Amino acid sequence: MTRCTELEPPTAEDPSQDNTLDLTRREFLAGAGVVSAGLAIGVAPAAAEQATGAASAVTVPITLSINKQQRTLTIDTRTSLLDLLREHLDLTGSKKGCDHGQCGACTVLLDGRRVNSCLTLAVAAQGAEITTIEGLGTPDKLSPAQAAFLEHDGFQCGYCTPGQICSATALEEEAHRGDLSLVSFETGRTSHPKITDDEIRERMSGNICRCGAYANIVAAVRQIIRNGERP
Ligand code: FES
Ligand code: FES
Repeated sequence: MTRCTELEPPTAEDPSQDNTLDLTRREFLAGAGVVSAGLAIGVAPAAAEQATGAASAVTVPITLSINKQQRTLTIDTRTSLLDLLREHLDLTGSKKGCDHGQCGACTVLLDGRRVNSCLTLAVAAQGAEITTIEGLGTPDKLSPAQAAFLEHDGFQCGYCTPGQICSATALEEEAHRGDLSLVSFETGRTSHPKITDDEIRERMSGNICRCGAYANIVAAVRQIIRNGERP
C-alpha cells in the first residue's frame, strides 16, 4: 500500500527550489493578467494581449471646421479634440486641467453646445463647427462673454478662464432656448426658467476655478444673461 508523503517546504540551504517556484509564480501571474483582462472586456486572450499591450496606431485623414477655418490633417484615431487643438494646431487657448472630464478647463463649443474637448474624439467632431476661445472674439472686438469677464474681474490666474468663457457663451444660448437645469426642476419650472444666481452656479458647475474667483464669475455671467435678453 502506498502512503502519502508530505512535501518538505524549501529550505535556506536549497535556494534553487525557491527560485524555480518564484519564476513559475511570475509566469503564472503574467499569463493570468492577460486572461483576466480578456475576460473583463469580453475578448479572447490574444485580443486582450493586444488591447492591454501596444495596439498599433490607426491613422486617418480628417477635415474639421475650427473657428470657421477648414483644417485637414492625418491623426491617430485615439486623439482627443483637446490634444488635436493644442498639440497639432497650436490652438493652446483651451486648457488641459484634468484630462478626465472633471474640471471644464478644456470646454469648447461644438455647433454652439459646450463639450469637454478632452472627452471628445477628434474624429467624432467631423462635420461640426468647432469654436474655441480663439474664435470667440479678438483683442479689438471682444465677445460679450469675454468683455463681461474682463469687466467683472472674473479670473485670477486665468487658467480656467477660456473654458469658463466658452461655457458662459453656451449658457446664454441655453437660457435663450429655455433649457432647464436641476435647479429649475427643484423650483417647479418646466420651461424658460428665470436665470437666477442659483441657476448660474448650477449651470457653470462643470467649470472649476482653483483660484476661487466664483463670485466674480457669477457677476460676469449675470451680465451676459442680462445683455443677451431678447424680446
Ligand atoms: S481637461 Fe477636460 S474636463 Fe478637465
Ligand atoms: S482663475 Fe485661476 S483657476 Fe480660475
